[in-house]
Amino acid sequence: MGENEYTKELIAFMQETGFVWGPSPEIYGGLAGFYTYGPLGKLLKNNVENAIRKTFIENGLWEVECPIIAQEKIWEASGHLTSFSDPLIFCTKCNGEYRVSLLIEEAKPELEIGGLPNDVLLKLIEEHNIVCPKCKGKLGSEITQHNLMMQTKVGTDTVAYNRPETATTTYLPFLRYSEFFRKKVPFGIFQIGKAFRNEISPRQHMLRMREFTQAEGQLFLYAHQKYEFEHFDSVAEERLPLWPHKNQKEKLPVEQISLRDAVEKNILKNQAYAWTLNLTYKQFLGMGIPAELIRFRQHSPEELIFYAEDAWDVEVKLKSFGWTELCGVHDRKDYDLKQHSKFSGQKLEIFDGETKEKLVPHILEIAFGSDRPTYALLDIFYDPSDKERKVLRLPHILSPIKVAVFPLVNKENLPEIAEKICQDLKEFVCIYDKAGSVGRRYSRNDMRGTAFCVTVDFDTLENKDVTVRDRDSHEQVRIKISELKETLRKLIHGEIKFKDLKK
Ligand code: GAP
Repeated sequence: MGENEYTKELIAFMQETGFVWGPSPEIYGGLAGFYTYGPLGKLLKNNVENAIRKTFIENGLWEVECPIIAQEKIWEASGHLTSFSDPLIFCTKCNGEYRVSLLIEEAKPELEIGGLPNDVLLKLIEEHNIVCPKCKGKLGSEITQHNLMMQTKVGTDTVAYNRPETATTTYLPFLRYSEFFRKKVPFGIFQIGKAFRNEISPRQHMLRMREFTQAEGQLFLYAHQKYEFEHFDSVAEERLPLWPHKNQKEKLPVEQISLRDAVEKNILKNQAYAWTLNLTYKQFLGMGIPAELIRFRQHSPEELIFYAEDAWDVEVKLKSFGWTELCGVHDRKDYDLKQHSKFSGQKLEIFDGETKEKLVPHILEIAFGSDRPTYALLDIFYDPSDKERKVLRLPHILSPIKVAVFPLVNKENLPEIAEKICQDLKEFVCIYDKAGSVGRRYSRNDMRGTAFCVTVDFDTLENKDVTVRDRDSHEQVRIKISELKETLRKLIHGEIKFKDLKK
């Protein structure tokens, strides 16, 4: 199945099975870039967010929830008002609008365009005869900057914006954090919540939405702490798949490098940044993304966003879109706190006992969200190779439904027993399913990614046991009802393997 064919199949699967619907609202024809999570999609996204939350908390970061809307001055201070924009070009014939970078990337994938100014991009469009992908018409002779922020109004006259990132809103209570952490740096804060971007003609389904959920961790620390970072030694021997921008230019492959080597060879600028990349890696493994599909790609200096001094993206290899950015790890230095200090008139600094001076902390940021990883999990684990029995092979811990319980037939007290078992398993997401043949119920649950199916049959009446079937191997074992909950708990948490259960 080709890439495009797979993408179509995957999106149809998401719609039909109840993972993701849209563009929404469908009965009104849909608005590009807005999607609805159906019941299974919402369960999966919640599992992804719980994994993110768990990893951040285990690594010492604290969660906050800030307002989504903030007045214009905040975005002036953050730089988003002037610099958060994409180059846009129109078609002279059909008036179609295009994000210039995507247009060129799709027409001429061999060109490297990261960070090029608009006049050079325009020349490339002319030189390579790039035309409107829809009507083949001539593209305009001008590229304009399209600001990505969505404006709104508060009260009758206060201009405000929906946040385009959670990060800026996380920085604003800095003085409160300073009190909460008793003026001790470093400290870490994260936020999981909605962000909005007025993307130009978004395609690529949930990878480029106009309303999406970000999950962004921010590590506040003094500049000098970056070089002697207290937690570095505990992770120094961890190896990460790194692809520095120099190696990209020289067409060298991604290399597994230990953090200690990466810092010593100046591939990573400092210990704290290395620790932050490692935490990011843990995040992606924790969300169930297989290690072999992950790489860290460094931005070239031309590609860097206005607030970042250094940036490495987590890219994940998708069946539908190839290597795709799912996260950016940014060294934002003291850019944000200094800007907000200037615009608010408040001193955003803390007294450092070591240097005996007041310092503005730097910020290292892990910027990602839950939509792209949710899409990635569906992309990676959906397996339509057997047309008769398509399977969603999600890691058990992420499966929206953990267990489905069936009565073999709808008579002889089997439904009542099955319902009771299902009730007893409510600590997992467990459903009771009695519709259709057992075969149909298995296939329906395989499509949904249900980890285990439990069937109550006539032997249950006598032996007080049930059949447990594993989604991936289709193998079955008999388990005593009295041991069912504990066995399933261990299977779901990966403490035991299905193949190790007694047949
Ligand atoms: N605070 C920095 C920041 O926002 P970014 O690279 O622009 O950095 C971070 O965005 C992450 O947010 C991305 O890696 C992606 O996971 C998610 N994201 C950004 N734009 C998105 C969109 N239009 N749709 C879905 N997710 C998006």
